[in-house]
Amino acid sequence: MLKILPIAVAAVAAVSIARAQAPEAKTAEQVYKNITALKGTPADELQPSMQFIAASLGVNCEFCHVPGKPEADEKGAKRTAREMIAMQNEINKASFRGRTEITCYTCHRGSGHPTNVPPVLESDAAPHPAAAPAPSTAGAPTVDEIIEKYVNAVGGADAIQKATTRVMTGTILFGGGETSIEVIAKAPDKRVSITQMGGGSSYTAFDGTAGWLGSSGRPAREMSAAESAAAALDARFELVPHLKEIFPQLRRVRPEVINGALCDVLMGGGPGKPPIRLYFDRNSGLLVRMVRYAETPLGRNPTEIDYADYRDAGGVKIPYRWTLARPNGRFTIRISEVKTNVPVEDSRFAKPAGDVK
Ligand code: HEC
Ligand code: HEC
Repeated sequence: MLKILPIAVAAVAAVSIARAQAPEAKTAEQVYKNITALKGTPADELQPSMQFIAASLGVNCEFCHVPGKPEADEKGAKRTAREMIAMQNEINKASFRGRTEITCYTCHRGSGHPTNVPPVLESDAAPHPAAAPAPSTAGAPTVDEIIEKYVNAVGGADAIQKATTRVMTGTILFGGGETSIEVIAKAPDKRVSITQMGGGSSYTAFDGTAGWLGSSGRPAREMSAAESAAAALDARFELVPHLKEIFPQLRRVRPEVINGALCDVLMGGGPGKPPIRLYFDRNSGLLVRMVRYAETPLGRNPTEIDYADYRDAGGVKIPYRWTLARPNGRFTIRISEVKTNVPVEDSRFAKPAGDVK
């Protein structure tokens, strides 16, 4: 189930928060059996580190691990990986003041064997076609202007304030399949998504303080602090008008072109916050993409959400379609119906005490 519902993939969420919120958090070597290269890493970051390695080399876990025995050192690739971790740390220390500039992906680019010779030309076309000039920051709107344009584009501050709940129904598409989904949201930051599969329900929720995951017939589990921080962002009823409160460090960076449209880009960060980038269509003012990053000791795992099909829902324009993509999976949610301001009890977002229904 986790595999087909990537929103629930435990390991990939933002992780730096674990340190900020839980100083007593365990280290990887306290939780796992055979940790040497990643000693001192918060235990929460072990799985995301593994996701990072697998995505960087374009391999699955079995490339290095004996199934069911991840602590075993039988496979040569696992031993090589340890040496590579040490090498990466040395390069970054010696040449990049300890910043994680060189990662597995820098060299591997999705392959087990990095290439060290440039490729030959594969066609008779001109070898170096002139690249389109990168958009410049000259004349780009300020942070405040970008936020204000978005607020006006979706319907204005008053309309935003008046909307306090949304009950959305639609479908979620993943891996060629699809199933129904209900997303219930309540201002300022409560949200639960319920998908139907295999005769049961699967929940991803944020109750305003913490996130949890569950599926029918089993106890719900709390998200890690890091997953929770990512879920908190997704749960923001209106994210953009609150960006400056949420991210003490918020700045405009170079504009980029996405799907042919010039976008203004904001970058957010701050202690205990997953770093994010937000892309606003310069023409419409609407938010078209959010990328957030989960820190691991080896590099950052990205989660990209593309928003589309903005339409009115009770006075405020919201995206009726969004796609969430990670190195190891993606899904698209298509909303068909939205009810605004129907009463929703807080208990809808609470983690069930016993088994999930
Ligand atoms: C390229 C090799 C490689 C790949 C691919 C890889 N790992 Fe690992 N894994 C390692 C290494 C190396 C360690 C030991 C790290 C250390 O010594 O600190 C490790 C350790 C672990 C551990 C800790 C085991 C213990 O008890 O000591 C787990 C769990 C784990 N990996 C899970 C995974 C999962 C799940 C995947 C797939 C998403 C994965 N790994 C992919 C190399 C790999
Ligand atoms: C500076 C470049 C560089 C970086 C950074 C790097 N590697 Fe490598 N890695 C190589 C090269 C080059 C080889 C291939 C050596 C060969 O083909 O014999 C290799 C080989 C490997 C192999 C053996 C593949 C096989 O088929 O057995 C593994 C596993 C591996 N790297 C894991 C990693 C991991 C995990 C990281 C990040 C922690 C990493 N590498 C970072 C350059 C790099």
